[in-house]
Amino acid sequence: MNYKDYIRVIPDYPKPGIRFKDITTLINNGPVYAAAIEAIKQAVSDKQIDLIAGPEARGFIVGAPLAVSLGLGFVPVRKSGKLPGEVVEASYDLEYGNDKLAIHKDAIKPGQRILIADDLLATGGTIATTINLIRQLGGEVIGAAFLIELGYLEGREKLDGIDVFSLVTY
Ligand code: PRP
Repeated sequence: MNYKDYIRVIPDYPKPGIRFKDITTLINNGPVYAAAIEAIKQAVSDKQIDLIAGPEARGFIVGAPLAVSLGLGFVPVRKSGKLPGEVVEASYDLEYGNDKLAIHKDAIKPGQRILIADDLLATGGTIATTINLIRQLGGEVIGAAFLIELGYLEGREKLDGIDVFSLVTY
């Protein structure tokens, strides 16, 4: 399957010069969406995973179906102020702008093996921060899986050598 055929590229969004990779056209197609999640599942099938973690909001689109398909729980990594319980928080820079991410303190127990899932690896800031939060709770990050990797931004370099899988690379 050539997944790029289903990803719409929108020029100059949200800023001039950025070619936005829009996955809404991929997930609008049921069989293609299912195949993409299945392909990620196959790619991580050799790993012992306890939980999937995914950052708001597009990470939920990949992480939640992957977790259900693997029969595992899902940990939402949310922007500051959205989680009701006690959290650990950290700031991060985005490709455009900056924000704070949070995880519930009791969502991950020390020693649990966590796979991170998201739609897109760009600068790596979001996932580097997610790794930091998971480690603060004693979790072991065993890899990260994406629909899309923007290879030219070298986000992988920020991910501390963890295993990275991406379905398509630009
Ligand atoms: C996007 C995307 C990734 C992140 C990638 O999320 O879904 O999580 O940016 O960029 P990075 O590798 O440079 O950190 P965004 O923060 O735009 O939020 P959204 O998913 O709620 O749209």
